[in-house]
Amino acid sequence: MVKCRCGPAYSGVPEHLPVIGSGENRYPAKVIQQTLNKPGGTAHSGVPFWDAFLFTRRRNQSMKRMLSGIKPTGQLHLGNYIGALSKFVSYQDEYEMIAFIANLHCITVPQDPAELQKNLQDCVALYLACGLDPKKSTIFLQTDVKEHAQLGYIMCCHTYMGELNRMTQFKDKQAHGEKNLSGGLYTYPSLMAADILIYDPDYVPVGEDQKQHVELTRDIAIRMNNRYGRLFKIPEPLVPKVGARIMSLTDPSKKMSKSDETNKGCIYLLDDLKTARKKIMGAKTDSLGIIKYDPENQPGVANLMQILSSLSDNRPMAEIEAEFAGKGYGDFKRAVADKVCEELEMIQGRYNEIIASGMIEDVLNEGAAKARALAAPKLETVQRAIGMEIISK
Ligand code: TYM
Repeated sequence: MVKCRCGPAYSGVPEHLPVIGSGENRYPAKVIQQTLNKPGGTAHSGVPFWDAFLFTRRRNQSMKRMLSGIKPTGQLHLGNYIGALSKFVSYQDEYEMIAFIANLHCITVPQDPAELQKNLQDCVALYLACGLDPKKSTIFLQTDVKEHAQLGYIMCCHTYMGELNRMTQFKDKQAHGEKNLSGGLYTYPSLMAADILIYDPDYVPVGEDQKQHVELTRDIAIRMNNRYGRLFKIPEPLVPKVGARIMSLTDPSKKMSKSDETNKGCIYLLDDLKTARKKIMGAKTDSLGIIKYDPENQPGVANLMQILSSLSDNRPMAEIEAEFAGKGYGDFKRAVADKVCEELEMIQGRYNEIIASGMIEDVLNEGAAKARALAAPKLETVQRAIGMEIISK
């Protein structure tokens, strides 16, 4: 029997799972074996499974859980940071935060392998550089926890095509006449539902564009709970009041996104400061010449105000309006650029240290072990409820 080296034993073993040990030393055998058999779960990885496993339990007992992910199809940008990543960081003290890198979602559109690998590495480094702490948060790569893909298939079989047809991201790409869209892109909301439901989170912090997918996740969870008995917690999307949809600097009617064709509308977290400043100074505004928060009539100015407010602890718009009353767009843009560059400089300094430290592999191994300890029993519970399992593992 494997001996626990720290803290209290795992006491919440699901009834149907065979266990190792008894009383204080009771652990689900399947989870232990699976985890020890996988990379990152073995003692020689330097990441003791027990620490990860018990860490997960301890935090579970006292905190509500949050889960979210980012799909690094390109470099992370200011929209990802303001709408999502900075929020993960601020929630990690109060909540049990699970933040993963959605690399399966990346390949729903064609990727250059070398570029993808670099983007994944940068994404982990940026998670850490922006302040996610692996001691508080579970950080891992989606493909390192294979249960995501397996539950993803099950979710796909419980999603209606009519629902997938209504998802705006796929509809938009189709409407733009994009050819050879992949089946993965069409069904990715089902995989996203699996990413979420496999951890039973209470909340899913996302920017506005992902709210629709969390709502679909809720519908699938409710459908499956009605059919098979209570399997999943119904998660709530958590969309920030300010900064949930940062717009392109060149076209404030469009979302800031990695697929910005001109590259001038999007500020990447790893842009050099001169480039970032230039992009902000060149941001599209209007001819009214007043700094007022009016997204309908002054979308460019409103977008810059959202950026400034989000990066200054959600400073009220009225305060920003008062500060810039009687001043021109040049002064205002300079203030926004100063704030953005200050933030980027801090992030990039830490990013360079993290890349140099070589810590990424350990962080991912530890995160994957913690995540598997939650995902494996959940997948088993779901498969058993559906009637898919014969052998008791
Ligand atoms: P992704 O990679 O497109 O975006 C990651 C997060 O960043 C937010 N975001 C923005 N917020 C404000 N302004 C913007 N311009 C902006 N652009 C992006 C997104 O809303 C998101 O919160 N499918 C997801 C990744 C994913 C996921 C999950 C998320 C996969 N599984 C499970 C949550 C839970 C995606 O493509 O996000």
